[in-house]
Amino acid sequence: MKAALLILAAAGALAAGPGYAQSGAEVLKTKGCMNCHDAATKKVGPAYKDVAAKYKGKKDAEGELAAKIKEGKGHPKVDASDAELKAAVRQVLTTK
Ligand code: HEC
Repeated sequence: MKAALLILAAAGALAAGPGYAQSGAEVLKTKGCMNCHDAATKKVGPAYKDVAAKYKGKKDAEGELAAKIKEGKGHPKVDASDAELKAAVRQVLTTK
């Protein structure tokens, strides 16, 4: 059962094709987010788990935060696509 799920997930990733192949975790690494952030510890920016706690239950936190990072409003501007930023923020918001 678990193997079948993994195969389905892999097939889904392939079907999505290039450009949307990066997972949130990959974006966090390749776009330099980890230079200023850590999952559990405050560095230059807040720990992802603290951000997740702060935005817990907030509607459209994902879109709001992705826009904030994209536009560089109150956050250092990061050069990444909307899809990449949304994937990254989704990953941040699920950090425990
Ligand atoms: C140059 C350092 C730096 C980089 C690179 C950086 N951040 Fe941040 N980040 C910060 C700082 C400083 C804050 C705290 C200021 C704030 O609240 O926006 C922050 C805050 C945040 C927050 C919380 C914002 C809020 O309103 O509470 C999120 C989510 C976040 N960063 C995600 C990311 C993601 C995703 C990336 C990579 C695409 C990234 N950051 C890259 C420095 C950085």
